[in-house]
Amino acid sequence: MSVGVGGSARVQVLASTVADQIAAGEVVERPASVVKELVENALDAGARAVRVELEDGGKTLIRVSDDGSGMDRQDAQLALQRHATSKIRTATDLIGVATFGFRGEALPAIASVSRFELETCAEGDDGTRVRVTGGKLDGVEDAVRQRGTTITVRGLFYNTPARRKFLRATATQTRAASEAVTILALTRPDVAFSLASDGKTLLECPPATRLIDRVRALWGAELADTLLAVSHRAGPLEITGLAQRPAQARPAGRKGYVFVRGRPIRDPFILRAGEAGYRSTIAPGDRPSLLLFLDLPGDAVDVNVHPAKLEARFRDKFFVEKVVEEAVRAALAPLEAAAPMGAIGYPLPGIGGDLQIPAGVPLELFAQHATAGSREPIAPVLQLFATYIVFQTGQAVSIVDQHSAHERVLYEDVLRQLSGDGAPAQRLLLPLTLDFAPAELDAIEAHRELLARIGYEIEPFSGRSIVVHTAPNPHPRFEAARCLQELVADLAGGRFGGWQNRLERFAATYACRAAIKAGQTLDADEMRQLIVRLLSATLPAHDVHGRPSLVQLPKEELERRFGRT
Ligand SMILES: Nc1ncnc2c1ncn2[C@@H]1O[C@H](COP(=O)(O)OP(=O)(O)OP(=O)(O)O)[C@@H](O)[C@H]1O
Ligand SMILES: [Mg+2]
Repeated sequence: MSVGVGGSARVQVLASTVADQIAAGEVVERPASVVKELVENALDAGARAVRVELEDGGKTLIRVSDDGSGMDRQDAQLALQRHATSKIRTATDLIGVATFGFRGEALPAIASVSRFELETCAEGDDGTRVRVTGGKLDGVEDAVRQRGTTITVRGLFYNTPARRKFLRATATQTRAASEAVTILALTRPDVAFSLASDGKTLLECPPATRLIDRVRALWGAELADTLLAVSHRAGPLEITGLAQRPAQARPAGRKGYVFVRGRPIRDPFILRAGEAGYRSTIAPGDRPSLLLFLDLPGDAVDVNVHPAKLEARFRDKFFVEKVVEEAVRAALAPLEAAAPMGAIGYPLPGIGGDLQIPAGVPLELFAQHATAGSREPIAPVLQLFATYIVFQTGQAVSIVDQHSAHERVLYEDVLRQLSGDGAPAQRLLLPLTLDFAPAELDAIEAHRELLARIGYEIEPFSGRSIVVHTAPNPHPRFEAARCLQELVADLAGGRFGGWQNRLERFAATYACRAAIKAGQTLDADEMRQLIVRLLSATLPAHDVHGRPSLVQLPKEELERRFGRT
């Protein structure tokens, strides 16, 4: 087409090798991106095993071998041309595309900035070797090999010295490449993966059927044993994966991954939505490990919005985030979400001489409740050290910390009361007069309405004094004055300061101060009531400080210890 520019045309179409190099700038940033593209291709080719080798962090050599479909000679050469792909044919194929690749860009881009060698063999075919140097075809020859493909990339960026210079230290490159393999290994537990760097094995993952087994192979049992299964569906969106037990979340070092339709995606908002599911079960600042797999129809998400396909665009992001939060929350709800004893290396409690059966607890409670179904309310059986309550749930012995448990119960009650009709208060026969510091009086003023809703009706008296007309009554040993003093001091001192939501912060502060304390002897009825209420809470196994309110000793563990299995 001529548009009559005339004279010496200053606008010219780039030679394809230059175009490839420019494309490489978007796709190939460093060795890890090469590893990612090549491993994705191997998976797209149906590999059952993928092996990655690096030398010098991939700067000298990257080799990815697979036992997938391989290519015949014609395809092997075509594959190195820009926009040559076997994975889509038309634009509509892009909707819901199930392969990692679809652009036909990765191989030509990589080959344009390296000394590239492709060895491949399709079923029942002869093998082919194609060599490309800096984007220029160097030779095509026969190769003897089994079905599958091996791609070797040497001297990455050798012909673009400015970019080569910017490659960071070997250790950094190795770590990034290892992360790239790890992420893809998480998408396909059924495929074997290995990674060797300068002859040393860094990763070795046998094929597995469950994600948790893959996680164990990648990061060890120490992390795997802290993870709970996530499995949740809302409309067209299904969320599966793993979420860390709240009590085992730490401020640093967490693993956080999001996958959408089987693709790894970087999405801090989805991770944050997952963290929101932990609200009131972890201390602010703790970052739980999360592996979230989102599955939804192909037309509800666009995966073609980022040069390296690291982002996805959802049609309804708000809905997705809401369901992610629900999914994580649901994973934390069962009693099994409590820290198990034994499995995480707690020493087993030796039952010493102090075993006391509280008066009034029928002995047959010890024998009952062999049923599964952990949510069934079970009568408490024992109070130990005036602090812990021991009882049986489903197939486990549950031990509750009475303060933490009551705190969880009150927290959920109070949140409901704050957004509903308020709590039943009791009118004090003799109103209390209490003195406070100026900052505390300010805190009282700022929270007057909330205090009234939980049952404290307060009036300024004179100077630093206030009068309390009504008070809540969360349990028989409740000390209304002391609780109010502590609560107000906490509010003035900014305790629970990391909590975002004002109502939740208030509820947590009150729950912590109003709950039964450790060291208080409870009678059988009180224990039973507390347990029943705890078991009907939304998140029974976690207190509001990020500690467990309940631990479980699985029956299996007892059987193991006593040699019954
Ligand atoms: N390991 C492999 N085994 C079999 N075929 C392969 C392999 N790697 C690449 N191919 C073939 O080469 C083609 C080009 O690969 P390339 O990675 O450049 O593009 P793509 O995967 O189709 O798309 P994208 O650029 O999005 O990755 C693929 O479509 C595939 O047919
Ligand atoms: Mg590809």
